[in-house]
Amino acid sequence: MAHYRALGRLPRQRHTQLRDDDGHLLREELMGEEGFSSDSSLLYRRGVPSAITDSRVWDLPDQSRTPNHPLKPRHLKLHDLGTGTCPVEGRRLVLGNNDVRITYVVTGTDPSPLYRNAIGDECIFVESGTGVVETVFGVVPYRAGDYVVVPRATDHRWVPAEPSRLYAIEANSHIHPPKRYLSRFGQLLEHAPYCERDLHGPAETFEAEGTDVEVLVKHRTSAGIVGSRLTYATHPFDVVGWDGCLYPYTFNIEDYMPITGKVHQPPPVHQVFEGWNFVICNFLPRKVDYHDLAIPVPYYHSNVDSDEVMFYVGGDYEARKGSGIGIGSISLHPGGHAHGPQPSAIEASLGVQYFDESAVMLDTFAPLELGEGGLAVEDPAYAWTWAGRGPSPSSGAAGDDGGPAVYSNS
Ligand SMILES: [Fe+2]
Repeated sequence: MAHYRALGRLPRQRHTQLRDDDGHLLREELMGEEGFSSDSSLLYRRGVPSAITDSRVWDLPDQSRTPNHPLKPRHLKLHDLGTGTCPVEGRRLVLGNNDVRITYVVTGTDPSPLYRNAIGDECIFVESGTGVVETVFGVVPYRAGDYVVVPRATDHRWVPAEPSRLYAIEANSHIHPPKRYLSRFGQLLEHAPYCERDLHGPAETFEAEGTDVEVLVKHRTSAGIVGSRLTYATHPFDVVGWDGCLYPYTFNIEDYMPITGKVHQPPPVHQVFEGWNFVICNFLPRKVDYHDLAIPVPYYHSNVDSDEVMFYVGGDYEARKGSGIGIGSISLHPGGHAHGPQPSAIEASLGVQYFDESAVMLDTFAPLELGEGGLAVEDPAYAWTWAGRGPSPSSGAAGDDGGPAVYSNS
């Protein structure tokens, strides 16, 4: 995020004195990525950001993962997943690997605890609902269709105004626009499907008062992902001003300008963000291919280096007709096995001018494993829907996943 922003009170020059109205010296904190070699912001605080009075264990929800073995495409029905209502502690792990994890929660309207992900950036897609995210940089409103990008180690809490469905992509790295969209100085280029005007950071600083304030911190040890409860002597929301290129922001899918072509365009034209070892794309309502003999739905493809996760959030996804996939579904198409439309969907798409579909895609370059939440809502029939039939009962395989031996392809 190389888009400079400044809010609140700042000294005229960095690393110089700034005092409050009572003459007390404010504390300057640099929050920066990649050591001192990438984006950063300078924050001016009333309190001491390192002053803690306690640290205890925070027991995270189940983070276990099950390998996709034997190898199969998977269909996970997220709308069948019961979750806690806390926007942070209620998240259930759906899929994950050592680079990125997908969690899902259907919130209530109670605010989350103060929370900091010290492992990597989070990109939370708001499937439905409205509210705000209060952060140390200020307040970021959210609504359906938003990606809420929260940089690593940002203190924040979710305050839903209404129950919200949150699809959280939690990285071990930073999440940013693709490098090919950017000039060598970091400006979004003309061929990018969005620009700086579409990215919405906090509009003003936000302060809160308190002592002995608890912050839930998600972090890593050699044993994996763990949590700690840190108690701060004073409230972390004590920033009177900040400036820089590192801060949370939102981007709404309705501001994404889809790129279309005479024949089918590959997923990279639909890319919105990327992180280490993964990309995020979105497939949105658009006019489709205008060649006389175009086939609008995708060709079969075997992405030999990646696992592909689609989250179907709106419209009528043409290519998946006959698969059982619907709104709220996730499909996982793993590397090492081709995928594509159900055969009947190809014929049905000929001559179609417009796709009314909304889906968020995460492609990872390392295999994904199933979280306990994903396993809980798997549709065992999905893998066989292209063939129209599954393993014979006599093979014993059908009983392995509890599904019937023969499946409908309609
Ligand atoms: Fe695909």
